[in-house]
Amino acid sequence: MVDVKKIAVVGSGLMGSGIGQVALMGGYSVVMIDIKEEFVDKGVAKIKEGIEKVAAKGLLGEGQSAADVMAKCSKNIDLANAVKDCDFVIEAVIEKMDVKKDVCKTVMDNGPDHIIFTSNTSTMSITEIGKESGAPDRVCGMHFFNPPPLMRLIEVIRSEDTSDETFETAKAAAASFPCLRGDRYIAPVLKDAPGFIVNRMNAPVQIYLSWCFDQVDQKGLDWVQLDADAGGKMPMPPCMLTDFVGIDTMYHVMSYYQETLSPDFKQGKVITELYESGNLGEKTGKGFYDWSQGRDAIKSKIKGAEPAGLFDLNTTFAIMLNEGCRVLDEGIASGFKVIDDANMAGMNAPGPFGWGKRNYENAANILNELADKTGKNYFRPIELLKSGNFSKMRK
Ligand code: 3HC
Repeated sequence: MVDVKKIAVVGSGLMGSGIGQVALMGGYSVVMIDIKEEFVDKGVAKIKEGIEKVAAKGLLGEGQSAADVMAKCSKNIDLANAVKDCDFVIEAVIEKMDVKKDVCKTVMDNGPDHIIFTSNTSTMSITEIGKESGAPDRVCGMHFFNPPPLMRLIEVIRSEDTSDETFETAKAAAASFPCLRGDRYIAPVLKDAPGFIVNRMNAPVQIYLSWCFDQVDQKGLDWVQLDADAGGKMPMPPCMLTDFVGIDTMYHVMSYYQETLSPDFKQGKVITELYESGNLGEKTGKGFYDWSQGRDAIKSKIKGAEPAGLFDLNTTFAIMLNEGCRVLDEGIASGFKVIDDANMAGMNAPGPFGWGKRNYENAANILNELADKTGKNYFRPIELLKSGNFSKMRK
């Protein structure tokens, strides 16, 4: 395995700064990189804020102060120069294939011969990102969940070209990044397929959500009513979660799935309009909600709202079960336990298989009704779900 001492994080935004923070907490030297000084400064300021919170709770290594940890954090806006003395790179730049390929090639052209490049892409092909880099065997996926310091899951994705050494080094590095909410859970992703495990399983839920958003719009209801449908049973209900993840992220991700999985991923009217208006959720202060008063103010509005009667948790479970079966069918995960555990560690929400084992026949009916109602055939149950045979694929 490669001896990792210095890590470069490329992209200092929401995810990059969270990743930089956990890498520093893991004891590594970290260089934060972006295209403009102001972006790097913002990312490093966010890291400092996080590290100081951790220090105040006495959760840094023994005798370590926030200043000690931050002394290992540097910044740079020249990627080619910055990676010269790095062993490991985690890329968290914009979700555009050309940009990611470019970053990967620059790293491989300028880094030392042993450098490993990982991508935090949410959905994209790791094989394609690494293909023209000159060293595709040293490229793999390392997918974090937002916010990286609090969400336990990291998916490590093997591309068609990833070497054993790269895969093992990436899994070991991922496991060494501390999490503030319990032990890290590393899910090995055995096949490089769109959305990997957790995002893939949740992907068609976005078709359902997008349809629900348009129904709210058509019926003249309020977003809080849709979120009230979740009955407080999700860590974040649909509109709130979409704002939290970013409307632009949902928009881009759906575009990608449209090309790679099915045209049924076409974004609805509401998501398209929000995306085009630039109201992208929490990060811009406005999306479905106005975030200026903070998360709790939104939560209390949802609590008092009359449910819309549109969004249904069992339907969500049925959709996830069907897609989880596709993940098994395609050999992306080794068994349903990994899928359920990964969902819990990455989304703080149970996966569908525990429910599915008892309810798969009902799930098949729900899915057929949903396909009829929405006109989206992607929802139709696949054979592995209908037969219940997924229950034999545990590990
Ligand atoms: N550093 C140090 N401390 C931090 C911190 C950081 N970076 N961020 C938060 N904290 C601290 C807070 O200060 C707080 O401390 P306190 O208890 O002393 O006040 C503590 O951690 C808890 O923070 P919050 O109050 O913000 O935490 P919540 O209890 O409200 O939970 C949540 C927040 C974990 C985000 C929860 O709402 C949740 O589980 N939401 C679902 C998130 C989710 O689904 N994420 C996955 C999205 S999909 C994805 O990422 C995939 C990608 O491809 C798009």
